[in-house]
Amino acid sequence: MTAKTKSIRLAKRLDEVGFSDIVQIRNKVLELRAAGKPVHAFHGGEPFFETPDAVKYASLRALVENRTRYAPSSGIEPLRAAIARKLQTKNHIDAGIEDVIVTVGGAHALYAAFQTVLDPGDDMLLFAPYWTPIRDMVTLAQARPVMVPTATARRNGLTATLEQFATPAARAIYYNTPQNPSGVVFSRREAEEVAAFAIKHNLVVIADEAYEDLVYEGEHVSIASLPGMAERTITAWTFSKTYAMTGWRAGYAVAKEPFMTGLRKLVLYSTNGVSTPTQWAALEALTVPQDAIAARREEYRQRRDLLVQGLNELGLECELPAGAFYAFPAVRKIHKESRRVATLLLEKAQVATIPGVVFGAQGEGHVRFSYAVSLEAIRAGLDALRKILA
Ligand SMILES: Cc1ncc(COP(=O)(O)O)c(C=O)c1O
Repeated sequence: MTAKTKSIRLAKRLDEVGFSDIVQIRNKVLELRAAGKPVHAFHGGEPFFETPDAVKYASLRALVENRTRYAPSSGIEPLRAAIARKLQTKNHIDAGIEDVIVTVGGAHALYAAFQTVLDPGDDMLLFAPYWTPIRDMVTLAQARPVMVPTATARRNGLTATLEQFATPAARAIYYNTPQNPSGVVFSRREAEEVAAFAIKHNLVVIADEAYEDLVYEGEHVSIASLPGMAERTITAWTFSKTYAMTGWRAGYAVAKEPFMTGLRKLVLYSTNGVSTPTQWAALEALTVPQDAIAARREEYRQRRDLLVQGLNELGLECELPAGAFYAFPAVRKIHKESRRVATLLLEKAQVATIPGVVFGAQGEGHVRFSYAVSLEAIRAGLDALRKILA
């Protein structure tokens, strides 16, 4: 090959990978604020409270005590042991320390999971609407996302709908509960249906339980706890949401072999592990008592009820989300395209939301509001909407 036949170009596998629309909206909000315009910010995905002080001090202690050197790339042993105990007692997953890996947030766990499981030409079943980066992560693994509409599945039955949408090339299912953006919490019965389908078709399940502690109605069921599922499931968790640690970038995955070998290689060659002081902070986070987590959940519930009632009163039909911290009202009465609606709400009422279409075609006709904000912010946002909608 001569220099003339080569070109300076981006690797082809990145051609089809998008760059989050959500980030573009965040930038627009920052621009408005910089221009002195107050914005009612419902577009984010971060808890409304601060990282607990004990967690911050644990990281300071690690720094002062010079626990600042390379850690094992898969995570420090006390943290992996504490995670394994949590998985056994809270999630009822049969996991030992060797089944746990620490990652740079839930996003990194999911990235590593997709890269571990998918080959070029594989199909990945996604319940849709889905959390936006999932589609891009599947594409980055050179696999094809195949949408399974969640609303249809819940109406017609998960098994029948999965049978209808599954393709011969399907290798895995992405199973997110509670769901972003819809707030859907799959029931135990639904988890059992997905598990039976995965076993019947010999599929891997990539489970995402980022919002496990934010279930207001029903129960959180870890699909890996069901019989025959631990060996075919990679589950991703994060410290971001439960402990208000979005910026720390800490999460973890649980999986059996052969997947753990893949996850270890991916974590080693992508980041060589999570920063050591952050891991000591994460260990402290796991000591936060369950009743403190439950008290936070009640604060979210209040916010959810206030926002959803307000949206329905404005004629923006919204089901009560059973989990996570998002409301996903129908907004077709404003305009059929959710991008137009989000722009309109931002320009006319300074209310920042995310257009539903960025979560897949099944999200069109909706916008996503995060209610992980103060009660006053929800009241002020609803007042601003009332001025343009009522
Ligand atoms: C469904 C879902 N999964 C995983 C994550 C990952 O979060 P992080 O990378 O901050 O841990 C998020 C964050 O918004 C999410 O909404």
